[in-house]
Amino acid sequence: NGKTVTLAIESSCDETAAAVLLDGREVLSNIISSQIDIHKLYGGVVPEIASRHHLTNVNTVVDQALDAAKVTMDEVDLIGVTYGPGLVGALLIGLATAKAYALAAEKPLVGVHHIQGHICANYIQHKDLKPPFMALVISGGHTNIVEVTDYNECHVLGGTRDDAAGEAYDKVARVLGLGYPGGPLIDKLAKEGNPHAVEFKRVFLEKGSLDFSFSGIKTGVLNYMNSERQAGREPNPADVAASFQAAVLDVIVAKTVGAAVDMNKDKIVLAGGVASNSRLREMLQTECKKHGIALYYPDPILCTDNAAMIGCAAYYKYKAGGISDLDLDAVPDLSL
Ligand code: KG4
Ligand code: ZN
Repeated sequence: NGKTVTLAIESSCDETAAAVLLDGREVLSNIISSQIDIHKLYGGVVPEIASRHHLTNVNTVVDQALDAAKVTMDEVDLIGVTYGPGLVGALLIGLATAKAYALAAEKPLVGVHHIQGHICANYIQHKDLKPPFMALVISGGHTNIVEVTDYNECHVLGGTRDDAAGEAYDKVARVLGLGYPGGPLIDKLAKEGNPHAVEFKRVFLEKGSLDFSFSGIKTGVLNYMNSERQAGREPNPADVAASFQAAVLDVIVAKTVGAAVDMNKDKIVLAGGVASNSRLREMLQTECKKHGIALYYPDPILCTDNAAMIGCAAYYKYKAGGISDLDLDAVPDLSL
């Protein structure tokens, strides 16, 4: 029917995923095989185990994506794949698979930046969304404020100097004994707590900086728990969760909206696993309204790692001639 068919593969962390899209924004299938239940046993992602499971699952996941989309490999126009950033062993499985299909079926290979993919999840969700806009990419591995000037053009304005926001959520959840992944659990628990119960430090760094630092707050929470217990008081986990979240989100919201206002952007786009956070969405919505900024975010299934978002990014890169060589290598610390 003249539309471009993209097959995409994502394996940068603990989700083995494949998807098929028409013209980059219409999702025909989006298969995600999550390893969360396995890594839960260890309280976090174990890279070696992640690679092994990607290897076991990837071909089945690709077959399922093609079947569910009712598309044959012959009908595919390009193969998109994440080549960084991420866990090197995990990335290599998806990349080797994509290259094998590209070589065997004689299809162009398009390597995609994982963060670019997260941003593109919004093009799938919001059919009329167009650049330019300000993006906040916030996940277990990244926290970035990104100025998106075109489909294939963006500038990172700030990032974390230590832990990613999702990592901070996961670590504090561990301190509170909540389980893994901690983000959704803190999100839920914080609704029952008082965000003003504990005044954790808001870390803004130098004036004008759009960078973040979240490693201190984990220690702050730990110290607070210890000192309360030493004083014979049992801290209320819901209050601690709500107060931790308030401290982190105050900084994130202020910097993101500040960047959009300073750079005259009338749209803010959220992406990444933490973009599912209900309090973050609420706080940003309130601030955006004050400044006449429109707020966009994807459904939770498109926030966490998936291949549909990678397919969308691959499509726009392909349209701009961005075909990769078959010797494309995985780049664990790939920059935007
Ligand atoms: O995007 P993602 O699936 O993986 C990375 O690329 O890192 O994000 C996973 C992260 C985890 O740290 C998880 O705790 C966090 O997103 N997360 C949340 C919520 N849902 C997932 N954090 C806060 N609130 C949530 N509702
Ligand atoms: Zn991700």
